[in-house]
Amino acid sequence: MQLLSRTLMQLLFLALVTLLGITSVCSVHGFQQFSFCEEELRHYRDETEQLFRHAYNHYVELAYPFDEVYPIKCRARTRNFEDPLDHPTNDVLGNFSATLIDSLTTLAVLGDVSAFRSAVRLVERDLQPDFSIDATVQVFETTIRILGGLLSAHLYATDPTKKVYLGSDYDGFLLQRAQRLADRLLPAYSTRTGIPLPRINLAHGLRHVPATLQQENNAAAMACPMLEFTMLSYLTHDDKYRNIARYAFDVVWSLKSKLDLLPMSFSPHDGTPFNKFTGTGASIDSFYEYALKGAILFDDEELWDTWEGSYYALRKHSRNDWFYANIDVDSGQVITPWIDSLSAFFPGLQVLAGDLEDAKMKHLMFLKLWNTYGALPERWEFQPQDLTGESPQELSCVPLPWYPLRPEFIESTYFLYRATKDVFYLKVAWTILEDLKALYKTPCGFAGLQNVVSGERQDRMETFVLSETLKYLYLIFDTHNELHSDSSNTVFSTEAHPLWLRASDLAAYKSCRGFNNSHNDTVPVLSGEDPKESFFVRLLGAFMLSAFPKAQKGLRLLPLNQLSAKNGGQLKPQSSARMCAISPSSSAAFLHSSMLSEFSRLFEIEHRYSETLLRPRRLFHRTQMELNPKFYETWSGWDQAKLHDGMCMCLAAPTTESYEMLFSEALSDLEAPDARSARQVPLGNGTVMHRIELAVLAGVRLRIEVLLPGALDIYGRKIEQSLFESISRENVLDKNMFDVSDTNAAEDQDSSATSMGPLYRATAVDGMMLPFDGVVHLLKLSALNSESVSGGLLGYNRENMLLIGGVPVINLLVDEA
Ligand SMILES: *[C@@H]1O[C@H](CO)[C@@H](O)[C@H](O)[C@H]1NC(C)=O
Ligand SMILES: *[C@@H]1O[C@H](CO)[C@@H](O)[C@H](O)[C@H]1NC(C)=O
Ligand SMILES: *[C@@H]1O[C@H](CO)[C@@H](O)[C@H](O)[C@H]1NC(C)=O
Ligand SMILES: *[C@@H]1O[C@H](CO)[C@@H](O)[C@H](O)[C@H]1NC(C)=O
Repeated sequence: MQLLSRTLMQLLFLALVTLLGITSVCSVHGFQQFSFCEEELRHYRDETEQLFRHAYNHYVELAYPFDEVYPIKCRARTRNFEDPLDHPTNDVLGNFSATLIDSLTTLAVLGDVSAFRSAVRLVERDLQPDFSIDATVQVFETTIRILGGLLSAHLYATDPTKKVYLGSDYDGFLLQRAQRLADRLLPAYSTRTGIPLPRINLAHGLRHVPATLQQENNAAAMACPMLEFTMLSYLTHDDKYRNIARYAFDVVWSLKSKLDLLPMSFSPHDGTPFNKFTGTGASIDSFYEYALKGAILFDDEELWDTWEGSYYALRKHSRNDWFYANIDVDSGQVITPWIDSLSAFFPGLQVLAGDLEDAKMKHLMFLKLWNTYGALPERWEFQPQDLTGESPQELSCVPLPWYPLRPEFIESTYFLYRATKDVFYLKVAWTILEDLKALYKTPCGFAGLQNVVSGERQDRMETFVLSETLKYLYLIFDTHNELHSDSSNTVFSTEAHPLWLRASDLAAYKSCRGFNNSHNDTVPVLSGEDPKESFFVRLLGAFMLSAFPKAQKGLRLLPLNQLSAKNGGQLKPQSSARMCAISPSSSAAFLHSSMLSEFSRLFEIEHRYSETLLRPRRLFHRTQMELNPKFYETWSGWDQAKLHDGMCMCLAAPTTESYEMLFSEALSDLEAPDARSARQVPLGNGTVMHRIELAVLAGVRLRIEVLLPGALDIYGRKIEQSLFESISRENVLDKNMFDVSDTNAAEDQDSSATSMGPLYRATAVDGMMLPFDGVVHLLKLSALNSESVSGGLLGYNRENMLLIGGVPVINLLVDEA
């Protein structure tokens, strides 16, 4: 009854919030109440637009035609013309008016036709038409910022449904410039593997780039030009760009491990990996992004399969509760104690893929980081490290302490707001807006932080501040933007340039497409018909076989997080019980989102990462978003009195330990059927029918909780003694095998009397979390015998529970096929 009335109350509450949140009129006292009425949203939208103009106008007045403006020194920031080898400076600054080109589509999103027109005129008048610029730049950065900016601006200029449509004033030169630029970048693909080199000199090609700068390239950079290059082929009808970049994309994905996990960094010359780990942040991020966005934009099933395969493997092996940690590609073990700020884009991508629940949860982690630092540190450690030097703990938790105003957290907030329309995300956006004004605005733009702890500034405004950070923020508040009433296949490139493929463009492409081979440096391996048949694919095949030693037979039992026994991926067994959901009180005005009451683990992050989530001194007085201690004490039931009046859904910290277990591939010789479809059974009413054929347990990853009498489990419940009394530990499988004539089952029942050792419970299968009472059914194949289940390590008891090393897993049941 209590449960029912609480649910009812929440429903009412939700309805109330929806009503108040979206349609209320603005209070006469200003916007204090965050009702987020239309008028208030317009106000924030206009403020964001002014911030953009502040920076853009200063760039145009003080720094154009150079690449960037110094936001503090207020003059042009250019490439290092004296030292062409200063690649950290020069990689993204090609002396091609980068800020202007990267900002074109923000002007289009603002719907400012005259500013858009003037900017396009500047490109036409001043930009080197064929990009014959003596500048060595990164292929990836130049593609996403410049090529993508030109393509997207071309789409806007030629689309009569857009506000900034230029009509007959525009002759298509942006597309021609984009094509000339692509021609200059293409020679980077002329490697034996078809994978692009990281850098090229726009005027002189590869000959002018020192070999030392070409040894290593990352997975995102090697794969991603695919999206822009494919778009270019659709618009120019020349298939060269698409074929070459798509071939590289596919080769990159073929370099994945047996677990379908793609290392982050390779030699472009022969595909040798430079490291063996993967994650969702720097060096790999936009690989996932472009697999999914390419599938959407081009209606491409192969890209969809790549997305699904890569995301499935990631969820299966890397799914920590609050973030995707970096893991070893061969074992799935957590390999670094940190996450990086670039991975904050991932919840936005999960929204596009439809995985809203996990997206919300992962986004909260980055929100807590923003709450703590007023920024996202480039790298933050979730595990406290042993202090070796003199640096104080606050500094050692952020080994890469800068924040160059990256957009990724805002981008995810945008996607979550569009998907949920939850005022919670408006509140997040408003907080960011206030921080931009208070912490980052400078005389000539916006300056990021060199150190989020000390507050030391960076006199730098990367082009993505104008092309992404402010664009996504603007779009959150501009609920009526034309992009939002558009039902086309529009996606944002990884530089936030909107791209869409019109039916007319697609039809024209289909009737005129061809492979124009006349380019000087056409990649040798690709002039043939089917790139997939190429010598290099076979070469790579051989490489894959030799690179991975035969998987060990048997089970690998891996602690959930082996980095440090101290903290690990575990919940710290403290019981301050500060992990409560927020329950709205019926008597108080509660204008915030229902989001906050959805999570019974809302405060778990603070609890779990209290040792490394340390607020810098300089921000002690900054008001945090509503998830601050005061808010917490007001709304959660952590004081005992509230605990008892049914208002609280506190989840106490578990005292159990959890482990990850990966069944090795060699467990069975049987070919696994389509592993994904075999295992995806929707969660329904609490009973999970999760069918896994036992012989196909190979490759399955389980999270196992070790149950002991009296302990608190991860669902916040006390484990009863009685559970242990009823479960047998005898291996029925062994019995069948070795004592076929046995008829004395009754006698054995005594000898197999239950012991008081631990029991296991599966809490996640292949990254899918099981609810309390969730049961997984394993189908027993006829071939099941001791040998096939790994030298007797596996078996099952009389209750049909799977035994692992003699210990029953109480919710893994072995069924007859
Ligand atoms: C860089 O660009 C500026 C402005 O377009 C131009 O005047 C200058 O000659 C260029 N410098 C080099 C080395 O290309
Ligand atoms: C092929 O490319 C060359 C060089 O870019 C260009 O001059 C020529 O017109 C193109 N041919 C076709 C058929 O598009
Ligand atoms: C090919 O490149 C060479 C050397 O850069 C140049 O002299 C020649 O004009 C180019 N040919 C074409 C057709 O662009
Ligand atoms: C849950 O749903 C399944 C399938 O509809 C059904 O077989 C099962 O009995 C249900 N379990 C409960 C506890 O209602």
